[in-house]
Amino acid sequence: KVEDRVKDLMSRMTLEDKVWQMCQYVGLEHMKAAEAKIKPEELAKNDALGFYPGLRSDDIAKLTTEGKIGSFLHVVTPEEANELQKLAQQSPLKIPLLIGIDAIHGNGLYEGATIYPSPITQAATWNDALIELSSQETAAEMRATGSHWSFTPNIDVLRDPRWGRTGETFGEDPYLVGNMGIATIKGLQSDDFGPDNVIACAKHLIAGSQSVNGINSSPTDVSKRTLFEMFLPPYRRAVREANVYSIMAAHNEVAGVPAHMDEYMMNDVMRDRWGFDGFFVSDWNDVSRIANWHHVARDFKEASLFSVRAGLDMHMHGPKFDEYIVALVKEGKLDEARVNYACEKILTTKFKLGLFENPFIDLEEQKETAFAKAHQKTALEQARQAIVLQKNNGILPLAKLVPSGAEVTKNKKIFITGPNANNQTILGDWASPQPEENVVTMYEGIKKVGEKYGYDVTYFDSGDRSKKMKDNDIKTAVEKATEADITILVLGENSFRHDWKNKTTGENVDRATLALSGKQMKLANQILNLGKPVIVVYVSGSPIAEPTLEKRAKAVLNTWEPGSFGGQATAEIIFGEVNPSGKLPVTIPRSVGQLQMVYNHKPTTYIHKYNTEKKVPLHPFGFGLSYTTFEMSAPRLSKLTFDNASDIITVSVDVTNKGKMDGDEVVQLYIRDKVSSFTRPVKELKAYKRVSLKAGETKTVELKLTGESLAFYDKDYNFVIEEGDFTIMTGNSSHKKSLQETTLTATKHLQIAE
Ligand code: IFM
Repeated sequence: KVEDRVKDLMSRMTLEDKVWQMCQYVGLEHMKAAEAKIKPEELAKNDALGFYPGLRSDDIAKLTTEGKIGSFLHVVTPEEANELQKLAQQSPLKIPLLIGIDAIHGNGLYEGATIYPSPITQAATWNDALIELSSQETAAEMRATGSHWSFTPNIDVLRDPRWGRTGETFGEDPYLVGNMGIATIKGLQSDDFGPDNVIACAKHLIAGSQSVNGINSSPTDVSKRTLFEMFLPPYRRAVREANVYSIMAAHNEVAGVPAHMDEYMMNDVMRDRWGFDGFFVSDWNDVSRIANWHHVARDFKEASLFSVRAGLDMHMHGPKFDEYIVALVKEGKLDEARVNYACEKILTTKFKLGLFENPFIDLEEQKETAFAKAHQKTALEQARQAIVLQKNNGILPLAKLVPSGAEVTKNKKIFITGPNANNQTILGDWASPQPEENVVTMYEGIKKVGEKYGYDVTYFDSGDRSKKMKDNDIKTAVEKATEADITILVLGENSFRHDWKNKTTGENVDRATLALSGKQMKLANQILNLGKPVIVVYVSGSPIAEPTLEKRAKAVLNTWEPGSFGGQATAEIIFGEVNPSGKLPVTIPRSVGQLQMVYNHKPTTYIHKYNTEKKVPLHPFGFGLSYTTFEMSAPRLSKLTFDNASDIITVSVDVTNKGKMDGDEVVQLYIRDKVSSFTRPVKELKAYKRVSLKAGETKTVELKLTGESLAFYDKDYNFVIEEGDFTIMTGNSSHKKSLQETTLTATKHLQIAE
């Protein structure tokens, strides 16, 4: 039994041995690459990349053979993983290493991996099963390269899209985020770990997605109520419904308490209240930052005390932490039981993952797994389902394929340009550059599919937005657009991590505006001024607020960050081989000034007006057009009253495809608690279902409402349903015009299990 094996091993471990299991370091190759970029004379003092002054890659190898490192991060290749495990096998206790990596949407840091659409893109599919599948495949690709632990899902509920990490989130709604997070965890982990499973890491506890000014790591100041209603539900569910094995603390503070020493959050809420049974890992160097960023500890040693005492179990990354923890225990300041607890959880994970049996990778076998055909198929399907058609005046699809065979358009010229038209920006953050043959860029996809229908497709590189598009290039692009019948403008932002200097969004690159960066609007306006049809394709992990552009373009496709096959999926939609069905997982505001613009706001949010801006968004949460028309009936309830905590109400909706093309629709169910003892949002998503319908077909979709759907926190933070009426709304977006409603009555006050 795993417990017995852990107990036995721990009985042979010293205090130091146990503390070393709590220590994580960055991989050798990662360090070497970073060292190579630093001038030799600056090596000794450089900690700019989070490397400790004086610490070198050689030291890390030595520490591994001494058993002083329990875990690594950012070990990208199976060769390096094997090398490190070999070093660990030379240590006295031969404890294998737990290797973690940011496999956020595929094992993306590996060159040759399947890059699935980024999380915000995945969320736009509203298809949990597809996310569970891609996560399963990711786990297999990770194990094939020697990693056992993915620092995903990011279940930060996005409340400020200026945050550069928007693309890493599943959007603004706690229920959707929770579902997507659970699907990710279930795909990665397993109750009964096999060789193709890894552990997941829910991050970042908590609320950094509503930081001051939208800037990564800056403070958050939200109420306990907002934490419990908006930010914590996905964590509760990750623990309760998916048994997540690890949780990462956030860079930020909430109400004056840095997350890395937040005992209430880690211990009282996650462990005691919700039964979290895994381990907490720090984010990169955030323990020392309790002292040197937040200034609530005198030094790193005191910061280590505060953090581990509060519940932290593993330190990312570097030396000193171990020395401090050992000293703090010996000085009687830190209870050794905390170290034992952390070590036990980490060792349990290693046993469950089978690392003691075999920590190595068979280099031959692994070659079959990365970028496997089946994985490519999933990545493509996710992209197809995620792309949101935000506008269509009828120009799309370009090939009117359906329903009676191809109608080929002869000799029409399509011109493609824009900064995201022909590069790997479509991969999004947390991806290394991939082999060219593994990626279908927008231009490549549109050319290939377009030529099938007789289009003549050309491309011109108008330059990258952040390299300051040259006016001459804009001029050439306009000339080429003049010669074409249709221009496809591929615009947006860039979170591609390995293009660090040119990033306009992503981790640590936050957005002060939601408008298009650089000279993109200049390019767009000059082409639009020609009066010829323009189709806009956005590639961006976060929303683009350009109302005028959307008004002038004939069609707008929001592809988010669609991954390896983004160009193919986009082309299939443009030409009508695939009917678009993605739905927005965030509200798209008209301008940055409208923030915080979310669909699930409180009743008084829009009582008054802005002086110069509308108070409606550019596009509502849940919105997305199709090439066909769906009609929905009003919701029917299996019972009009909610009487017992265990009641389950079935909400039925008939959906008919009234158009000529087969397609998918996402039926969405929102509720409103009409009168409550604390203010409640005007709408809350509580269920959804994607349904495929042939042209002319009708299906009845059933959605479930449980006690949890109706409950909220009372003054003592009990999870309750208050007696009274709830409006039940169903439709295909959160916009009031798309919703039809009925009423459900809670007949008494009920306590609900969290
Ligand atoms: O997992 C990430 C985290 O989300 C941000 N800081 C670095 C970690 C490890 O790469």
